[in-house]
Amino acid sequence: MKLHRAYVLASKKCMNVQIFTVLVSVFAIVTIFVVGTFLLRPSADKLSVNIAMAYKNSDLSTDERIQILLSQMTTAEKIGQMALVEKNSIQNTTDIAVYGLGGLLSGAGSKPTDNTAVGWNQLITDYQAVATTSRLGIPLLYGVDAVHGHALVPGATVFPHQIGLGATGDAELVKALARATARDLVATGVNWNYAPNLDLPTDIRWGRMYEAFSDDPILTARLGAAYVRGLQTASTGETAPVLATLKHFTGVGAMQWDTSTNKNFKIDQGVTLADNEALQKKYLPPFKAAIDAGALSVMVGLHTWGDSKLIVSREILTGELKDRLGFKGFVVSDWYGVYEGAGNKFIATVRAINAGVDMVMLPFDYKTFVRHVTWANRLGIISDARIDDAVSRILRAKFTAGLFDVPVATEVKLVDNRALARTAVAQSLVLLKNNDALLPLKKNLRHIRVAGSAADNVGIQSGAWTVEWQGVDGNLLPNATTILAGIRAQVTPGTNIEYSPTGEYKTASTKAPIGIAVVGETPYAEGWGDRAYPILPSADLQAIKNLQAVCTQVVVVIVSGRPLLIANEVDSWDALVAAWLPGTEGGGVADVLFGGKPFMGTLPVPWPKTAEQLPVATDGVTWDGTALLFPRYSGLSY
Ligand code: BGC
Repeated sequence: MKLHRAYVLASKKCMNVQIFTVLVSVFAIVTIFVVGTFLLRPSADKLSVNIAMAYKNSDLSTDERIQILLSQMTTAEKIGQMALVEKNSIQNTTDIAVYGLGGLLSGAGSKPTDNTAVGWNQLITDYQAVATTSRLGIPLLYGVDAVHGHALVPGATVFPHQIGLGATGDAELVKALARATARDLVATGVNWNYAPNLDLPTDIRWGRMYEAFSDDPILTARLGAAYVRGLQTASTGETAPVLATLKHFTGVGAMQWDTSTNKNFKIDQGVTLADNEALQKKYLPPFKAAIDAGALSVMVGLHTWGDSKLIVSREILTGELKDRLGFKGFVVSDWYGVYEGAGNKFIATVRAINAGVDMVMLPFDYKTFVRHVTWANRLGIISDARIDDAVSRILRAKFTAGLFDVPVATEVKLVDNRALARTAVAQSLVLLKNNDALLPLKKNLRHIRVAGSAADNVGIQSGAWTVEWQGVDGNLLPNATTILAGIRAQVTPGTNIEYSPTGEYKTASTKAPIGIAVVGETPYAEGWGDRAYPILPSADLQAIKNLQAVCTQVVVVIVSGRPLLIANEVDSWDALVAAWLPGTEGGGVADVLFGGKPFMGTLPVPWPKTAEQLPVATDGVTWDGTALLFPRYSGLSY
């Protein structure tokens, strides 16, 4: 019994122990689960960080990424994104992060101390590193004017200026050149190019004619769209595309002589007559074509439209461009242009942003800009919605260009684009006169005399926007070929090539069968090239005369950014070639002069006979009814 009780008691105790053990285990499991779940659950802070950083996830759509990022941004961070500053105006590098600046640019000629591809890459890598220390780590846009190749970096191949590409009329070639430019830009860390130029120049007196393809909106639309595709399309081996900028919106090129608001200029930054029919039929179509090709930034011109600066026209910037053309990218103002719309800086800023400007190329004082937009927003005269719209557009471009996903390139090497450039030069030449089939020249001629300021000068043949804003004078660029060197490389060893810039030779007592005068304009950019009478320099006119005296026949090659007034001289020339501003590959000119390649170019703009005919209307008919020297699309071939 005792035993039994004892057994029962023992077994009861045993049962109690088991129940106890089970209960303890259950308790332990529940506790571990509850505590574990609690411990493993992200804290509120961690959760918000994850949401905040979700914009870095490239699996999300661009729209989702924009929304997530925008919802995290303070008003101050948004306003910072709207500022575009010239690099030399950054007072303290940390300001990039403190103000959350949207972009930096190198104004033409503003380069790193070490002006090499490595120097550029280092400069921009350092700026990006500062930008990513900001709370949201939004990368910078970095813009340059690589308008004819990455020509600000000595050693990069310099392509023909756009007017020469207009003469080729070849969209595939333009695309290839833009892609080659993008590769060089990517290597140096630049993600934004202020090209292509879609101006439609109607007046050779304007100092920017060469920056445009043509005055023909159809040709400009075709080549502009091709340029955008080339620049913005990443291809195998490239890390990211480069953003194109369509400039200058719009009606630029049709400004009237002597209307410039810049006291140093005559036509640049002048007045375009407000004409809705011209807007719809001429000025907008090239922009539409390039936007359809994917362009995500448009730069507003510094000109006046009718009676006010275009920068304050809500009707055109928002109504036409954003609403009617459906442009989803961002509108950037040109150099200091935001302050052109009104005498007072605060009012000018408010008017431009409300008209539709999204990013402001200040390019100097970002602190005042941030203060002005902040006040205007607090006063309710720049709405939250306008700021959100502007910033969304800027972020769209940044996401699309892969700025958040791809770091600055680490392979810093400029591509050798010389063969491509030489082809482009050859295709851009326009043969306007060829008496007695003088061209092509024989390679085994006994004696050729060469003269002219542009024969042995890479600076002149490259034009402005080459290393410096106003270009350089002389043979300062590595790996470049002058036109003279190109000529020398074509002829047989027995050919005597004599060169004198002035056309004066010690051997002048004997006549050479052929003279080649390579003459032209010295480089100029923007309104500094406005000229009442664009003619050849008197030294070059004299050099041609000197050459004519000592050669049986003379070929004149004009190196210029525009047609020049040559009606008084051209009859005495045996052959005439327009070579535009060919860039570093002078060999391309010689290829065609000596028949290795055919003449393929045609005039992209009409060539007037007199200054009185200017400006020439798009249909090519002069307003006074007189005949042009050569109509648009003239061009002989062999
Ligand atoms: C020009 C633009 C250029 C900008 C940045 C301005 O003076 O008008 O074409 O992109 O400077 O260098």
